[in-house]
Amino acid sequence: MKEQTDIVWLDEVDSTNTEVQRHIQDIDNLSVVAAVNQTAGRGQRGNSWLVHAGENLTFSLLLKFSSPESGGIPAGNPSAGDLFPPLPAGRQFSLSRAVALALTDYLVSKDVSCSIKWPNDIYVRGKKICGVLIENSLSGPNIATSIIGIGLNMNQTEFPANLVNPTSLSIVKGKTFDNRAELEILCSFLHRRLNLYGHTGAEREKMLESQAAEYVSRLYRLGEVHEYVDCSDGSVFKGKITGVAETGSLMVEKENGELKEFAFKEISYII
Ligand code: BTN
Repeated sequence: MKEQTDIVWLDEVDSTNTEVQRHIQDIDNLSVVAAVNQTAGRGQRGNSWLVHAGENLTFSLLLKFSSPESGGIPAGNPSAGDLFPPLPAGRQFSLSRAVALALTDYLVSKDVSCSIKWPNDIYVRGKKICGVLIENSLSGPNIATSIIGIGLNMNQTEFPANLVNPTSLSIVKGKTFDNRAELEILCSFLHRRLNLYGHTGAEREKMLESQAAEYVSRLYRLGEVHEYVDCSDGSVFKGKITGVAETGSLMVEKENGELKEFAFKEISYII
C-alpha cells in the first residue's frame, strides 16, 4: 500500500463525497479530496453537515477494489494507484470499523480519550467530535468503490443551538490546530487501519477479527445500562450494548434479559 496519501485541497466544493463521485474514474485508490468549505455537506440519514468554513476537517478518501473476474492484484503490498483485492459486500461493515478505529487512534495520539458511538460517530466526553458518511458501490457480490467522507471538528468553538451535542478538538485541548498538517497525520492512521484490505485469505481474516474486537472494546456505552428508542414502534427501553455482529448490527441486552440485534436506523440513543 502506498505510504503517502495524495491529498487534493479545494477551497470550496458542494460536498467532498460528491466531488469524489464525480471524478471516480480518474482518481486513484487511497486518494483524498479535502475542502476548506463545503456548501452542501451531507451527513447520515439524509441530514446536512454544516460547519464553519475553514475551521474543521471535511474530506473524503476513496478506496477501490478489484473484482475476481479482473484477476485481482497481488495481495500484500499494492503500490500507488493499485486496487485492493476483492472485498465481498457482506464485509462492508469492516470499513466503518477500520475508519472508526483510525479516527480514535488519531485522537488518542493527541491524548484525547474518546469512544465510538455505533456505527461510526466519534464521541469525546459524551459529545460528538466527528461523523463519517461511507458510500459504497457494488460490482456483483463485491464492493467496487468506497467513498469515506469524514467531518472532524477541529477549530470550531461555537455551534448552532440545534446541534445536540457537538464538540471539537480545539474545545477539548484548548488550542487551535493546523488543519492541513493534521490531515496528513490522520491519513497515516487511516492507512495503518485500512492496510488490511491489501491482504487476502487467512491474513485478512485475522486482521478483520482483531479489528472487530478492538472496535467493540472502544464502543461508547459498552456494557452500561442506558435508554434507547426502538425505532420499529417508538418504544423506549433500557438496555446494555454487548457487542456488534459481523453484519454491523448492534447487539443489545434489554433490561428484561431479551437479546436483540438492531440494524442501522432501527435504534436511536437517548443522550
Ligand atoms: C454524520 O452525519 O455524522 C456524517 C457526516 C459526514 C460529513 C463528511 S464532511 C466530508 C464528507 N463530505 C460530505 O458531504 N459529508 C462527509
